[in-house]
This record gives sequence, structure tokens and C-alpha cells, in this order.
Amino acid sequence: MDLLNKIKDSAKKYNKRIILPESTEERTITAADEIIKEGIAQIILIGNPKEIKNKAKELNLSNIDKAIIIDPKNNNKKEEYIDLMVDIRKKKGLTREKAAKLIEDPLFLATIMIKNGDADGEVAGAENATGDVLRPAFQYVKTKPGFSVVSGAFLMILKDKNFGEDGLLVFADCAVHPNPTDKELAEIAVATGETTRAIAGFEPRIAMLSFSTKGSAVHEMVDKVVNATRMAKEMDPSLKIDGELQADAAIIEAIGQKKAPGSEIAGKANVLVFPTLETGNIAYKLVQRLAGAEAVGPILQGMAAPINDLSRGCSVSDIVNLVAITANQAAGN
Ligand code: ACO
Repeated sequence: MDLLNKIKDSAKKYNKRIILPESTEERTITAADEIIKEGIAQIILIGNPKEIKNKAKELNLSNIDKAIIIDPKNNNKKEEYIDLMVDIRKKKGLTREKAAKLIEDPLFLATIMIKNGDADGEVAGAENATGDVLRPAFQYVKTKPGFSVVSGAFLMILKDKNFGEDGLLVFADCAVHPNPTDKELAEIAVATGETTRAIAGFEPRIAMLSFSTKGSAVHEMVDKVVNATRMAKEMDPSLKIDGELQADAAIIEAIGQKKAPGSEIAGKANVLVFPTLETGNIAYKLVQRLAGAEAVGPILQGMAAPINDLSRGCSVSDIVNLVAITANQAAGN
């Protein structure tokens, strides 16, 4: 069975409550119907119940009546949610009046429901920009203990099975944090190791990428990667990680042996951690387009609860896959 089917099958065991706040967006509601039909997760849709039902009827979707629908303007927990918002953000100047407006925004309501224990995870972004999906999550759900940044990993499923773990590589950060410090980069490496074990299902061998291999270049950008590698090892001594490595030394055995002799990672890496968002985002898109890889994600990591952001160009199956991944994350996988 391929990895995505395994992830979906695993999600079915947990029956987690996943929110899709962009409820009348066509691909989202179609994915919701499929998820309910397949039993991948319980679905919570946020929006006007009449509009959601009309959209389902228009698209001939017969399973949407099994979704839980929460009306952001009129639901019995609205006051409780406003109290919780003010409690979390009063030091940042949030008043009840402002919170009363924000709670009617499905993206804010989704994060508050998760914070209040009324849902297990969220997938959004088919019609909203990354920042608009992430900001409420950062402000109300926040990072999990031991982490100060959220980052985004991709499962890169390659046609060439000679690379990584039988053709599967995990890339990060490709989605969130533009210019991490050395400490933040270390956290991203540790979080990506956890995502690899939990979602990709194999033991990570992490290459911390740079334009230099083992001192071949001297630059403060190289120092950042060297420091991050050391800090990641301190954070998780069990982690198999090495850096700084160039991409070819990380994934090609002969080059790894030549440039970084004795390294247990060089030439064998199945996880690539990029020094900046710029490099990670460009790399994943080039590998996707030039090598025909399937890019699954971004899988957000380091957050206190699973909230995942779709690309606005996503397909129905991208949404179904990301809901299955989110359900697995919610189960502590
Ligand atoms: N992890 C955790 N919390 C964060 C992070 C992070 N990476 N970044 C910001 N925050 C928190 C801040 O601490 C702040 O919290 P506070 O209000 O409690 O103090 C809050 O989020 C807002 O912080 P800002 O610095 O104002 O962040 P801003 O909203 O300007 O930016 C954002 C955050 C939108 C994620 C920004 O970093 C960004 O645009 N990143 C790039 C996203 C992107 O465009 N990715 C590429 C496309 S996705 C793709 O191709 C798959």
C-alpha cells in the first residue's frame, strides 16, 4: 500500500474532529463529502448552514448532512469563545468588542474551537492566503512546549526510488519562517525529525544543507547551519543529523563519501533541512516541477495543535490527504 493510503487508513482509526472553515469553497466541500464518505475524519464546517446545504445540493454531495455545521454568527458557545479570546490576548490589547468581531471570522473561530477542546485540528487555505490562515493559529493555539517557531515540511515522493527512503524525502522549512536563527533552525530540524517518524513512518537521517560541506566555505551563513546542527543534537541526542552539507553531498553516496568522509548522513540523507524559507520553498517547487515529484504538504510542525495550510492551487485530493495527515497529527502520531 502506498504512503498516502496508509496515512488515510490510519486516520480512519482515530475518527478525529477536523474543521474546514472555508465551507462553501467548491474543492473544500467536495473534499468534505469524500472524507465523510470514506470515514477518514469527522468534519466540522464553519459557515451559514443554509448556504452550506445549498452548495452541497448544487454539487450533488450526499454526505454533507453528516457534517457538524457551526454558524459563526449564531452559535451557543459564542460568548464563551469571546471570553477565551480576550483572556489569551488582553495583554496585546484585545477588547471584547474586537473579539466579538473576530470570532465571526471562520479562521479565528476554528482556532478558538481547537483551543477550547471542541475540535482536534483544522485544514484551510484553499481560498485564504497562508498568512491569514497562520496568524490566528499563531496567536491563539501557539507553539507546543519546547518550540518557539512553527515551520512547514513537505513529503517529496520522487519517481527515482534511489534517493532518500525508497524515493521519499522530507523537506523543511518550505512554507513558514523566512529567516530562522541558528536556534530556530535547530528546532526546525528536530520538529522535522518528529514529522518524519510520525507521518512518513521512517527513522530520519537529517542533512542540514548549506552551500558548503564541512568547512569548504567560510561565511556567517555557514556558521548558522553548523551551530544549528550542534544545537539540534543537544535538543535531541538520539537524532541522526549532520551538517553543514551541500545538497549533492547529502543525497549522493559517492559525493558524500568524498566531501564528508565518515559522516553517517552524507550520501544517505532522507530529510533535507534548508537554511532559509527562500531556499526550501524554491527547492521543493523545482523538485516538484523538474523531477515530477509529488509534494504532499505543507505539514505544519511545532504548533500546539495540528493546523495545516493548503496552497490556493490545491486539488480535492490534496485537501483529503491533508485532512488525513492532520487527523494523524491530532492522534499524537
Ligand atoms: N512560528 C510561531 N509563531 C510565529 C511565527 C512562527 N514561524 N511567525 C510569527 N509568529 C507569531 C509572532 O510571535 C506573533 O505572535 P504575537 O502576536 O502573539 O506576538 C504573531 O505570530 C504575528 O507575528 P508577526 O511577526 O506579525 O508575523 P506576521 O503575521 O507578519 O507573519 C507569517 C507571519 C505570515 C507566517 C510570515 O512569517 C510569512 O508571511 N511567512 C511566509 C509564508 C509564506 O508566504 N510561505 C510561502 C507560501 S506557502 C507554500 O508555498 C507552500
